[in-house]
Amino acid sequence: MPSMKTSPKAEKSQKPTKLIVFNWKMNPTSLKEALSILEALKERVSKLKGVEIVLCPPIIFLSELLNAYQGKRISFGVQNGFYEDSGAWTGEVSFLQAYKEGADYAIINHSERKKLGESREIARKKLEAALRAHMRVVLCVGEEKRDHSGEYFKEVEEEVVYFLSTVSPEKRNNVILAYEPIWAIGKSGSGAATSHDLHEMALYIRKVLIEKFGRRLADTLPLIYGGSVDATNAESLMQTGVVNGFLPGRASLDVIQIEEIMSVVEKSYAPIQNS
Ligand code: PGA
Repeated sequence: MPSMKTSPKAEKSQKPTKLIVFNWKMNPTSLKEALSILEALKERVSKLKGVEIVLCPPIIFLSELLNAYQGKRISFGVQNGFYEDSGAWTGEVSFLQAYKEGADYAIINHSERKKLGESREIARKKLEAALRAHMRVVLCVGEEKRDHSGEYFKEVEEEVVYFLSTVSPEKRNNVILAYEPIWAIGKSGSGAATSHDLHEMALYIRKVLIEKFGRRLADTLPLIYGGSVDATNAESLMQTGVVNGFLPGRASLDVIQIEEIMSVVEKSYAPIQNS
């Protein structure tokens, strides 16, 4: 078992300006495969500069992966958690438990949770619980589909404002926004948002942040992109899209894709600076 943490890393380290959150979803099917991807990641990460790497494996592998990695360059996260800290909740795992085991990050409001029936109210409670547990939260927002009249901008705005309004100004420092257009998730690279689409949305989100929460937050809140990121589109999404990194799903299980995505982010400019 990994040793219990005594100090919250997420609170001690500076907020990342560039990061990649690898979401393995319900993959791979064995610990052996999980360890072999971690092994490859470890090697590359040891030379990586200026990029925070977060690995979100299925929770069943978390302790073993933490045991297998003693370094500081990879942080671990959970893909889900429960909104109470402990109690009679059969089958659930709390964010607090995950944090004490060594997970510093939590993905909240992912569209695949919504598809399973997770309501906005439940996602909000989870956001609160993860922040209460001292985790950094990767808060997913994104429209279901696009329309010609641009209604989807409002849809994303509404989600951003709803969730961030429920978080105290100090805790907003521990939030990373992940823009994930739902229509772009799980496609091949060509099904991702274009870098132009992404740039427009990134600017829009920053404008909403300025108007509703002030310039300081808008200048410091990391914004990453998820939805069919891979080695073919990472460079243009990062450069023209003007984001702080990615939330890859499928590509995060493929060592070659992982390598490529990491080196693109490493070479790219970070659109926000540390606060
Ligand atoms: P994908 O997943 O990269 O497989 O599209 C992205 C996500 O759901 O976070």
